[in-house]
Amino acid sequence: MGNTNNHNYTSPTEKAELKLDGKTVEFPVVIGTEGEKAFDISELRAKTSYITLDQGYGNTGSCLSAITFVDGDKGILRYRGIPVEQLAEQSTFIETAYLLINGKLPKKGEADQFSKELTENASLHQDFKEIFDGIPSSTHPMATLASMVLVLSGFYASWGDPNKNQTEVEFRKASAMLLSKIRTIAAYSYKKSIGQPLIYPHRSLSYCANFLHMMFSLPGEEHPIDEEAVKVLNLLLILHADHEQNCSTSTVRLVGSGRSNLFACIAAGICALWGPLHGGANQEVMEMLDEIHHQGGGNIQKYVDLAKDPNSSFRLSGFGHRVYKTFDPRAKVIKQACDRYFNKHGVHDPLLEIALKLEGVALKDDFFISRKLYPNVDFYSGILYKALGIPTNMFPVMFAIGRLPGWIAQWKEMREAKSPRIGRPRQVYIGPAKYDYVPIEKRK
Ligand code: ACO
Repeated sequence: MGNTNNHNYTSPTEKAELKLDGKTVEFPVVIGTEGEKAFDISELRAKTSYITLDQGYGNTGSCLSAITFVDGDKGILRYRGIPVEQLAEQSTFIETAYLLINGKLPKKGEADQFSKELTENASLHQDFKEIFDGIPSSTHPMATLASMVLVLSGFYASWGDPNKNQTEVEFRKASAMLLSKIRTIAAYSYKKSIGQPLIYPHRSLSYCANFLHMMFSLPGEEHPIDEEAVKVLNLLLILHADHEQNCSTSTVRLVGSGRSNLFACIAAGICALWGPLHGGANQEVMEMLDEIHHQGGGNIQKYVDLAKDPNSSFRLSGFGHRVYKTFDPRAKVIKQACDRYFNKHGVHDPLLEIALKLEGVALKDDFFISRKLYPNVDFYSGILYKALGIPTNMFPVMFAIGRLPGWIAQWKEMREAKSPRIGRPRQVYIGPAKYDYVPIEKRK
């Protein structure tokens, strides 16, 4: 399982035909395990001298992958074949991370070993403290996270080097180290941004409990661990864990295709995730809901109308998805988790009410219906993160912690692919045709 190298997915019978310049050219058809079809245009340019133009890559498959399956029309998301709803209900983030990276659920001994490696790697080298001290407190925690992950390459130079052959065990150790340290870096970034002392990880705590401890404990004042909060955090991170060839994951693969080390690729992925159209949307959603509540007088229709206005660039953050055209299964699970957590804890958040009303209005509006725009994973996740006490500017960081196993798994799969090639799209040039250089004194 998890190995795309040993199978040939080319259909023995089907072929795609292209009629061009009076010639008919044939291309192999590739069929995935869920019946997804593609035609392989690897030889298109050689055979025709044409290239394809696909801005935003909506029709382009960049790889064969055995990690995550998404069916956007049916609202299906599976990691290594397992429905994400089952993992969210029954698994932990760390078990899901193991599944994504190693291709199968761990047995008891494997889970214990992985957990031990995570615990052993939770602390950062003392030199990190000085680096943290040099970062201005105005820095967005995503910038701090990306920088610090890159700095890890200095401490663990050989661990993520694709040019060295690593055994499975070495790679598992490197991924445990990265998963463990990113959580410590994230919590330190927050502490640094609010001017509080850094809190060291606790060996006896689970992954998510340890994160909450490092975020909210103070010297001499332990943050009490709420098991319900730990469960919710596990669920959110599981739902973020992978989403096949999205913007940040494609970035990780593209940077990795040049054989950059794992840390550099993950840092690039974090930067890609930060954007408001991608993983930065959860922060944008909360800021939008807050604005509707405080400055917009709760006038939801005004914001819906603004999002529909062709002269405005405003979009409803947390709505729409390139792949999901019915519903985002992650949003469904998070909405249910919101209801459960809020009812259990008697939490009342006016922003949740605004979100529910906004969803209600948008889903009845022909503009959103006709464009198949539904709430995505980011629409409700911020409300849950807020209920856990996590500040808004940390939301994309939470997404990055969650997405890390997916990035690691995708990087590994790319590195092990049968004939990996550097990622290098082409273009159609539309600049000026050739003209001659004019010396400066003769320029008009
Ligand atoms: N609000 C209002 N209109 C929207 C929205 C939105 N959130 N999203 C798309 N549209 C409209 C577009 O204006 C366009 O309308 P048109 O056909 O009249 O020009 C149409 O729907 C199609 O939009 P595209 O931008 O072509 O869709 P695309 O698949 O390229 O973009 C994206 C997907 C980026 C997610 C988009 O829906 C969006 O900007 N959403 C808001 C940001 C967001 O929530 N991002 C998080 C996505 S989930 C994730 O990455 C983790």
